[in-house]
Amino acid sequence: MPSYVRAGSLPHKRHIQFRRPDGGLYAEELFSTKGFESVYSLLYHLRPPTATLDVREWNRPPVQLIANEPLRNRHFKTAQIETSGDAIESRRPVLGNSDLLISIANADRPMEYWYRNTGGDELLFIHHGAGVIETNFGELAYRANDYIIIPTGTTYRLIPSAPTRMLVHESTGMVKIPRKYRNEYGQLEEHAPYYERDFRVPVLKSPVDAPGEYEVRVSNAGRYATYIVQNHPCDVVGWDGYCYPYAFNLEEFAPITGKLHQPPPAHATFEAPGAAFCAFVPRLFDYHPLAIPVPYNHSSVDCDEVLYYVSGNFMSRRGVEEGSITLHSAGAPHGPQPGAVEASLGKTSTDEIAVMVDTFAPLQLAQAALAVEDAQYYRSWIEQQPSYSP
Ligand SMILES: [Fe+2]
Repeated sequence: MPSYVRAGSLPHKRHIQFRRPDGGLYAEELFSTKGFESVYSLLYHLRPPTATLDVREWNRPPVQLIANEPLRNRHFKTAQIETSGDAIESRRPVLGNSDLLISIANADRPMEYWYRNTGGDELLFIHHGAGVIETNFGELAYRANDYIIIPTGTTYRLIPSAPTRMLVHESTGMVKIPRKYRNEYGQLEEHAPYYERDFRVPVLKSPVDAPGEYEVRVSNAGRYATYIVQNHPCDVVGWDGYCYPYAFNLEEFAPITGKLHQPPPAHATFEAPGAAFCAFVPRLFDYHPLAIPVPYNHSSVDCDEVLYYVSGNFMSRRGVEEGSITLHSAGAPHGPQPGAVEASLGKTSTDEIAVMVDTFAPLQLAQAALAVEDAQYYRSWIEQQPSYSP
């Protein structure tokens, strides 16, 4: 919800009569969050969005997670997770906790139904691919390196024009722009690494006037259902407000760099309950003459760190590849592998792209991740000791 947006035809005031050309009333829908007390939008449908013909079961496989025990740093080569199907059915959970579920998906065909997650916002990161997400707010074209924020309750379907590999974050709350980037009125401040103009919002198309039978699969905190509704989800003639899907491409991210190493919060993109998101994009390194470009060793004692490697040369990590996920577990020291510090000295820039999420509740592991684990990763910081002859 970067700022107020309006699209299409709207009556001059909310909650008043607004008539179709045939004399009937458009159906106003309040799309609100946190009851009536946070951001919201008003949508105007050709016909009521409430017309439900049937409710059926959606037998979605349950998400099964196991504890990260013994607790240690881990590396999952998720490019090896073979999955296909549409954007929902191809999701393979890899990590999760009570705040967030992280999945890999590989959409190689369009969704033939609509989907609505009413259990929290979704944050999609597009690794490869392109296409369009059709929503009740309009169409959002996407491409590689897009972050796409989909507010809870949005009805959508993803139509790939090229096979789409993505990292999916299902939050139990709202995905927001960090407070530190916004002024008292919500506008992005000058020091923020992005600007309102960098966010893409849906393009509202002509409303679909075709009553019939439309399948909407609904997800809510582990509860599922399939709704058959009478009116097309994209029968909206206009909407306005602060709550809508939007996209942001990492090309638009203007990274904050410094004289010395900048920690991950300098690269923050979004935040959600129990989760902080960051992005590492091509950038100049630190400019102190004795600066060390790669990060220092550290232990994040109160969070689990998840780094997803997108593209480029991952200078501080040995053995990772595109699509790798490293999980640096709470309290487990990590940092550049042996030799990485010396190798980085004198480097002036990086072409790496990686996205990160820190979670503050312990992450659990899914079988799909364990099946592609580099089980020796936790030993990758061992120095080769020089041979010693007495
Ligand atoms: Fe770290």
